[in-house]
Amino acid sequence: KLRVGVMISGRGSNMASILAATEAPDCPFEVVLVASNNPDAAGLAFADSKGIAIWAHDHRGMKRAEFDRLIDAALRGANVEMVALAGYMRLLSSEFVDGWKGRILNIHPSLLPKYKGLDTHARAIEAGDSEAGCSVHVVTPELDDGPVVAQARVPILPGDTPETLAERVLKEEHRLYPAALAKCAADVIRSRKSA
Ligand code: GAR
Repeated sequence: KLRVGVMISGRGSNMASILAATEAPDCPFEVVLVASNNPDAAGLAFADSKGIAIWAHDHRGMKRAEFDRLIDAALRGANVEMVALAGYMRLLSSEFVDGWKGRILNIHPSLLPKYKGLDTHARAIEAGDSEAGCSVHVVTPELDDGPVVAQARVPILPGDTPETLAERVLKEEHRLYPAALAKCAADVIRSRKSA
């Protein structure tokens, strides 16, 4: 199985859906570390309760590249082979991204390339869009850029608020991310076998 490290900053519901997927015997990946820039992230306690190794360090007061070297060392120390950002709310240094070239996935709550950055649901409603969704993409040094590997769509309904829309999209995130990660992990394993 491919060794995955998950990076979170908060609630960690996407991380929990990734952990749930590893319970299937044929899941091509395992989660070997959950790492956070926020020692108080609720998701850390959840991962810990599931027996997953956790790592946390407060990024405040540190330079981005300096902090990223710490988290990189934690991931490498756990022999992580692929990184999944799951509500990791910090921009990554280009050094970090280059060091994991093509091996970092992120989930973003919009139909990329629309609405990079924050407040995606409010912006989609404001724009009068008829649908919204979420995207899993390969991380490049630019924010919410990089090739999209999977997307899921939901309708925007009359009367939707950013909160009601976020809830509808989040349900899809929880389905989409484990499936996209499994596909990418299986691809990596297959490419190794044929190498
Ligand atoms: C998710 O909706 C995720 O798509 C979003 O933050 C939420 C984290 O929730 N990520 C971003 O906005 C990244 N730019 P979670 O901690 O419960 O998974």
